[in-house]
Amino acid sequence: MSTPHQSDETSVMEFGVIHVEHDDRVLRPRPWTRLQSEWAAELAHDLPAGPFLELCTGAGQIGLLAAVLSGRRLVAVDADSSACELAARNAVRAGVAERVEVRAGDMRTAVAAGEAYALVIADPPWVTTAEVGRFPEDPLLAIDGGADGLAVARLCLEVAGGHLRPGGLLLVQLGDDAQADDLAASAGWVERGRRHGERGLVLLLAPA
Ligand SMILES: C[S@@+](CC[C@H](N)C(=O)[O-])C[C@H]1O[C@@H](n2cnc3c(N)ncnc32)[C@H](O)[C@@H]1O
Repeated sequence: MSTPHQSDETSVMEFGVIHVEHDDRVLRPRPWTRLQSEWAAELAHDLPAGPFLELCTGAGQIGLLAAVLSGRRLVAVDADSSACELAARNAVRAGVAERVEVRAGDMRTAVAAGEAYALVIADPPWVTTAEVGRFPEDPLLAIDGGADGLAVARLCLEVAGGHLRPGGLLLVQLGDDAQADDLAASAGWVERGRRHGERGLVLLLAPA
């Protein structure tokens, strides 16, 4: 887990019906990713009862908007303590702090044995290590997805697989269809659909 550091400049961005504080310590919120929150809220009608889990929350906007739209509780996890500070403030700003818990830590240890969620929302880094130099303004931890861009996405599947309620689902954000095809072929999962945005896509997976 990283230690928090200060940033000189904070901005506030509209993200659907919420406002999100962010700065240079986190990935700048990308408007197209609202589709992940909106899809989560749509799915909530038919999901089992229970909270949502967001892995790789950053400043928190995707999970928070899903919580606002669905009325569900949310546990939001990020390895970066600075991101978690922002996510906690953004939960207050969105008016949902009483049903949102932000946890700083690696996803492999931040979710305790026995915890079970109706939906896991995952926004892992998905840029290949070879390509991260193209995005010098972005924090490395937020974008570096390893050799094929899927290292952290695979971790998300591993964590989600151990923490879904019966009937629960996983919504994972990726860079392109090739990555989605690769991840959808993972043992233990079946694809339930995908939706495309301007600069990436969201893949819906169910345990096989
Ligand atoms: C692509 S950013 C997503 C941030 C935000 N959800 C968004 O869409 O703007 C990926 C996030 O994953 C976090 N992260 C990377 N590896 C992680 C790990 N092993 N466990 C928890 N969080 C991790 C990074 O700190 C970063 O905030």
